[in-house]
This record gives sequence, C-alpha cells and structure tokens, in this order.
Amino acid sequence: MEKENIQRMPLIGDEAPAFQAVTTQGTINFPEDYKGKWVILFSHPADFTPVCTTEFMTFATMAEEFKALNTELIGLSVDSLYAHIAWLRKIQELEWNGMKDVEVKFPLIEDIRMEVANKYGMIQGQSNTQAVRAVFIIDPKAIIRTILYYPASTGRNFDEIKRIILALQKADRDSIATPANWQPGDDVIVPPPGSCGVAKSRMENQGDDQYCLDWFLCFKKE
Ligand code: BEZ
Repeated sequence: MEKENIQRMPLIGDEAPAFQAVTTQGTINFPEDYKGKWVILFSHPADFTPVCTTEFMTFATMAEEFKALNTELIGLSVDSLYAHIAWLRKIQELEWNGMKDVEVKFPLIEDIRMEVANKYGMIQGQSNTQAVRAVFIIDPKAIIRTILYYPASTGRNFDEIKRIILALQKADRDSIATPANWQPGDDVIVPPPGSCGVAKSRMENQGDDQYCLDWFLCFKKE
C-alpha cells in the first residue's frame, strides 16, 4: 500500500523544517544560512494587498532593530518572484505613518508551489492558494519557539513580535520567565519552586533582589 505523505504542522519545540527557496535576495538555504541567529519567518496572503503593504513597510523599517537583536527576517507568500520585485519597488514609492522610501532588504520567498508554506502549515482554512498571516520565531538552534497566526483583516503588531524576541532571549540568558505585559527593565518571574524546601526558603529569604506574592509567585528585581 502506498504510504500517504501526511505532514504534521510544526509546533513550538519542534525543529524548524529545512528548505531551499528562491527569494528577492537570491537563493537561501534554511537553516544552514542562519546558523547562530534568531529568525522570524512570516507569511502574508498576497503581494499588492493593503494590509500586507502596511506590514511590509513596518517590518522593513524595523529590520535594523531586529538585526541588533541577532534576528533575521524572512517573508513568504504564494506569489512569483516578479510580483514580489514589482511590489517591493512600489512600496518604496509609498509614504505612510511617517515611513517613506522604505527599502525591503530582507528576503521574500517566492513560493508559488507552496512547498515552504505547506511545510510550515501556512495554508489554512481561509484559502487553498494564499498563506495566512503566520509568524514563526526560530532560535539559533533552529527550534521553533513561538508561533502566531493572525486573520487576513488584522495587520500584525511588530512591537509585540520584538517584545517576544526580547523576552525569549532574556529567559534563555537568565533562566527566568516574564510576566504579562513585560517590557525590558521590568521585574521578572523566578520559575516555580521544585520542592517544599525551596518554596519555604523563598518565602523566608525575600530581600533586596527578590520578593514573593506567594510561594509560587516570586519576582526578581531588575
Ligand atoms: C490585505 O493585506 O489587505 C488583505 C489580504 C488578504 C485578504 C484581505 C486583506
């Protein structure tokens, strides 16, 4: 019996699926070309659409901020390379929200055959031929750390995507977690205690650098 080629959608904690793709910046091999870097791989429904245009202007304007966080951007849609090139040239002519002469320097994948989109589960119920607004945050070991999906009618919040990168990097560096609405500089959360002894000593030893609301909810001061 022929084996069905069923692909499971990648999940948080999975190794990010590898691919080779033609892009507006030449051919890329993922993850080899991105060793040691964080990557934001994101898809949009189509070139020359209004919400996507505002997203590209915003993301391209923030590209240097992401670079400073050792983070590279890769876009994708089910459009041809020539449509991508024409759209990115048009974007450079537009002015919106204080942004103008915006040059999109990060690669935008041509994925007419939906090979990469299918590997990442970017084609969903809304259309058989267009990707949803997906965001995959992938760490320097090529592990998927965050997945976001937005509906077609809602442009993404790129400040939030940056906040997630900052929170993940902080959590990895300091073995902490970050509370709701955390922003850099805010106090962080100490992971829950693994024993009754640790719970007791945390409550008893609160001081200059750490405080607890209860045994399971302790903060480290920043
Ligand atoms: C947009 O980017 O404006 C858009 C794309 C697909 C469906 C609806 C809106």
